[in-house]
Formats: sequence, C-alpha cells, structure tokens
Amino acid sequence: MDGAASPWDWRRRPQPKEVTRMKIAFFDTKPYDRQAFQALAGQYPDLALRFWEERLTPATARLAEGYPAVCAFVNDDLGAKTLGILAKGGTRLLAMRCAGFNNVDLRVACGKMQVVRVPGYSPHAVAEFTLALLLCVNRRLHRAYTRVREGNFSLDGLQGMVLHGKTVGIVGTGRIGEAFARLMTGFGVRLLLSDPFPNPRVAQETQGQYVPLETLLRESDVVSLHCPLTPENTHLVNRDTLALMKDGVILLNTSRGKLVHAQALVQALKSGKVGAAGLDVYEEEAGYFFEDRSSRIIRDDVLARLLTFPNVLLTSHQAFLTHEALENIARTTLENLQEFREGKPLSNSICRECETHACR
Ligand code: NAI
Repeated sequence: MDGAASPWDWRRRPQPKEVTRMKIAFFDTKPYDRQAFQALAGQYPDLALRFWEERLTPATARLAEGYPAVCAFVNDDLGAKTLGILAKGGTRLLAMRCAGFNNVDLRVACGKMQVVRVPGYSPHAVAEFTLALLLCVNRRLHRAYTRVREGNFSLDGLQGMVLHGKTVGIVGTGRIGEAFARLMTGFGVRLLLSDPFPNPRVAQETQGQYVPLETLLRESDVVSLHCPLTPENTHLVNRDTLALMKDGVILLNTSRGKLVHAQALVQALKSGKVGAAGLDVYEEEAGYFFEDRSSRIIRDDVLARLLTFPNVLLTSHQAFLTHEALENIARTTLENLQEFREGKPLSNSICRECETHACR
C-alpha cells in the first residue's frame, strides 16, 4: 500500500459542518411543555434542548452545569442561592417561559446573566379562564356538577346572582385585564378599572371608568386581579382592603397568589364578606400546584381550609393552559434563545421592566 486514500476513505467524504449547538436546560417540564417545544425544535437546529421534570431549586441547579441557558417556569426557585449556582456553572441566560418573573431575584441575576420572558403569550387564555371561574363560582356550577353525578338533584345552596347591571372591578388593565374587560362588556355590567398607568383607549373601548383602587373595592360586586406581583402589590388584598369591599363580593385571582393574603381571605369567607372566590393561584402554591398530591396529606392548613369552602373554586395555575398559549410560549422562548445564541439584542429582556436598578 502506498498510503494513498482509497475512494472510500472517510477523509474523502464531505464531513458535516461542525456546529456547536447551544445547550439549554429546561426545568419543571410536564409532558405538554415538552410536546409544545419538541414540535418546533426542528426549526431551531442551533439549539439543543434538554428537559428535566425537576423544579429548579438550589438542590437541582447543578444539573445545569455547563449549560449557557436555562429555561424555567413560574414556581421554580430563582432566588439568590440558585442563581449563584447557575452562574458558577456557566449559565448566562435565564429564559422564563412565562409572563411573570416575580420569582427571579433580579438584584442577584443582574450582571451575572440576562433574563428574558414571554410577555403576553395569550391574554385571551387567561381572560377567558377568569370568566369561566366567575360564571362557575357565581352559579355554583362546580357543586352542581358533582351533585348531579351522585344523583343529588337538589338546588339548595346553588343560588347565584345576575351579572347584568352589576359592577365589575378590574385591578390592572394590561394585556389580560383589557381582554377580561372586553369579555365583560358583553354582560351589560358597569366596569370600574384601576391601574397606576390608566389606558384611555381601554376605558373608551370598554366603556369602563378608571377610579382609585379604594373606590373600585368599595363599589364592585366582582373584583378581578390582573396586576403583576411586585413588592408593592404583595397582599394587595388583605384584611383592611377586604373590609372595604361589598358584603358578598366575588373575588377572582388568576394573577399571582401573593396578591391575596390567604389567611385574611379565609376569615372573609367565614364571615360572609366574600361571597365566592375563584382562584387559579395561591400564596404558597409552589409545594402543591402542577403535581398530583392526592395520596399525601395537605400540611398547609390555609390551603386545606380554602378547599373546604363550597363557594371557593381553586384551580392549579391552569389559566394559561391552551394549545395556543403553549405554542406561543414555545415559539417565543425559542426565539429568545436563538437571539441570545446569535448575540442579537434580546427583544424580550426584562431589563426595561426591572426596577432593582442593580446594574446602574
Ligand atoms: P401586563 O404587564 O400587560 O399588565 C399588568 C398591568 O397591571 C399593568 O398595566 C400595570 O400598570 C398594572 N398594575 C401594576 N400594579 C398595579 C396595581 N397595584 N393596581 C392596579 N394595576 C396595577 O401583564 P399581563 O400580561 O396582563 O399579566 C398580568 C399578570 O397575570 C402577570 O403579571 C402574571 O402574574 C399573571 N398571569 C397569570 C397566568 C396564569 O396562568 N394564571 C398566565 C399569565 C400571566
């Protein structure tokens, strides 16, 4: 042999171009998340997705070692400890696959990694779910459903109220609040709106009226929360603000659990101040929501108490869960990751909304 390469020599064949795919560690994933991302993943050949079911906590953060990007969700623990471990492991991008980012310690993240999110992936999904909660708790459909299935055809305790002509108060008139306001216009209600940044277009197009929060709470038959969780908004609904509300008010919260002081809500339900509550979120939901805990003891007494009220409908942070929202979340998150991969400016960076000013 003269050492010349044969036509079949591997060195003569065209070699695939060396591509370094960016690895992304996805935490707290469920089958529906993986399905939505995998359906689009083929369109992003530069991205290598690795899914974990585990929630992101200081204990699991090491799984992301060597991953430049991490993708997390609403109940992942993105406090100082977790972020420190991620940064040490080489993570430079935190991609939240949700709108809210209240669980991220921005002071710590700032300077260590960039943070992106998915703003407004489907305001209609959450607004429509809020309406479903309202109609359900008001007309006690959740009780009627189980009753009739057990052969109990009694109507006792199932009275609701006519919404037409009532006053509905919407706290926060951003994307979701606006979508909910638009849905409510079909019911012939009086709409009261509250937002530190009133939007005249929303007021005009929904015939709603911006009023101070206190007026809204005093005059509304239904109060629906659509503002983000910030330090200032924590426990916006508390013993004092509940006292301002009408007797028998219907309280809806599809935003964030900590907007409502849950213990105070329990008292208000016991006294009859709150006539019904539709809650898709709960202060201490992180240990329970999204998981099957049916064979374990609920150790959270406030949660257990809330579940005993016939006039409370609690769902497990489900308002976003539509085909459209999941697809939008996956698409925008992959676009966010691709922008980072290509070193482009990040369209959905939360820097503009970050109020810590830690980088200044
Ligand atoms: P957005 O940013 O478009 O609107 C929020 C509005 O609330 C803004 O206009 C803001 O000025 C206003 N606001 C802030 N503090 C307020 C206060 N103290 N009183 C009245 N208004 C106040 O946000 P978007 O997209 O409408 O989402 C709202 C919230 O919904 C998110 O922050 C998130 O927490 C929650 N959400 C819940 C989901 C679920 O599945 N249950 C899914 C998506 C979002």
